[in-house]
Amino acid sequence: MTDPLARHTDYGNRSLDESDVADDPIAQFSAWLEDAAARGVYEPNAMVLSTVDADGTPSSRTVLLRAVDAHGFVFYTDRSSRKGQALAAHPLATLLFPWYTVHRQVNVTGEVALVDDAESDAYWASRPRGSRISGTASAQSQPIGSRAELDARVAEVEVAFPEGREVPRPARWGGYRLRPRRIEFWQGRTSRLHDRLVFTRGDRGTDWSVERLQP
Ligand SMILES: Cc1cc2nc3c(=O)[nH]c(=O)nc-3n(C[C@H](O)[C@H](O)[C@H](O)COP(=O)(O)O)c2cc1C
Repeated sequence: MTDPLARHTDYGNRSLDESDVADDPIAQFSAWLEDAAARGVYEPNAMVLSTVDADGTPSSRTVLLRAVDAHGFVFYTDRSSRKGQALAAHPLATLLFPWYTVHRQVNVTGEVALVDDAESDAYWASRPRGSRISGTASAQSQPIGSRAELDARVAEVEVAFPEGREVPRPARWGGYRLRPRRIEFWQGRTSRLHDRLVFTRGDRGTDWSVERLQP
């Protein structure tokens, strides 16, 4: 059996050049996201969200990207969770898209703001009923005594909101939008001589500069 710590994969054959990268990093990101999906990356919209809590402790977890445009990257969660508390203390975060099987990663850093109620309501309403029940029953990141206790809470919510009745969005649940100030595109290359292009947002807020970083 191959030692998983001793593997050496060549990240080969593709390049990322200044001449073929889009001027707008959101367009570049969208092209790579579509490419990752087309090439079979599992959950291509999954991203690792890193935050810093009130006392400076970093933490990371996976969340799903639900929208992206010129205004930023949107994800949904329980705002009373550990990540929600960290974002309340430090509304600045990093998103990492680890597209290992296509030898790419994208790293996005920026300020995070709450998605407004109408947009959070619309997304909540689009979720499957089971997810709305779970989101209502579960106070994310809070301890609970047992799985049975959690299942009992779900059963209570199912009684309160029987099939056919709307499950309202809990006040603690909603979206965040990260407005990028830095976006780095990483393309794996042979012999670890990778391509790294980083976009930095300029003072006008809509202009971007591009720089190549050493691998
Ligand atoms: C593939 C994947 C997708 C996930 N998507 C979300 C999501 O969109 N929102 C969310 O709140 N948690 C999501 N989770 C769960 C989080 O990783 C995490 O466990 C949870 O949000 C609690 O994090 P916290 O205690 O750091 O706040 C996902 C986990 C995985 C593995």
